Amino acid sequence: MRKLSYFIAASIDGFIGAPDGNADFFTSFVTGDFLDYLKTQCSDTLPTPARQAFGVDDAPNTEFDTIIQGRASYDLALDIKLTSPYAHLREYVASRSIKETPDPHVEIVSGDVAAKVRELKQEDGLGIYLCGGASLAGQLLDEVDELVIKTYPVVLGSGMPMFAAEFRIADFTLDSVRAFDNGVLVRKYRRKH
Ligand SMILES: NC(=O)c1ccc[n+]([C@@H]2O[C@H](COP(=O)([O-])OP(=O)(O)OC[C@H]3O[C@@H](n4cnc5c(N)ncnc54)[C@H](OP(=O)(O)O)[C@@H]3O)[C@@H](O)[C@H]2O)c1
Repeated sequence: MRKLSYFIAASIDGFIGAPDGNADFFTSFVTGDFLDYLKTQCSDTLPTPARQAFGVDDAPNTEFDTIIQGRASYDLALDIKLTSPYAHLREYVASRSIKETPDPHVEIVSGDVAAKVRELKQEDGLGIYLCGGASLAGQLLDEVDELVIKTYPVVLGSGMPMFAAEFRIADFTLDSVRAFDNGVLVRKYRRKH
């Protein structure tokens, strides 16, 4: 069965962006050995313009072949007239307000999004990349099999949470931790079943 991985950038205090979701300030940490790591081991998770800029647009998918994101996250691409921001993946966008897909490569999920993810998990193939944001991740929390948290060395005080969800305790096992020269940490966790 394919797994759903929430692969996300966060501050030390666990926020994935400013209160309005803006996460542009994290990009200043995409440098040095962390940049090399993203290019060589996480190219599946890079949006098409970044893959092109980093010279890895032709890299084959190794971890993920499918992405799902919320409409507000997808809006960031639409704002720059990019209708298929992850062209190397099968793209799903959760939305009830988008009635017709702006791109034939992007499928809109307007019904039961957790049921759709469970259906996708049954298919053969690589993993499913849950891109965010907080709202969609909150609704898919019970479906998340793996967490990959890129922690940037900043404290925000307040901001957008990793999951917009009701309080609950979900146990995860730490699989690996990797530290980079600029203070970025990448932690991988697997859901404890
Ligand atoms: N730090 C990071 O790595 C990272 C990664 C991704 C995103 N982000 C940030 O996250 C922010 C957006 O997060 P967000 O929580 O505001 O929004 P979001 O989760 O990206 O999108 C929310 C929208 O998704 C749709 N949606 C959610 N649940 C649905 C369901 N069950 N069925 C159908 N549609 C559903 C709705 O769209 P409609 O209103 O169209 O119905 C909803 O308004 C962005 O600003 C981005 O910068 C950060």
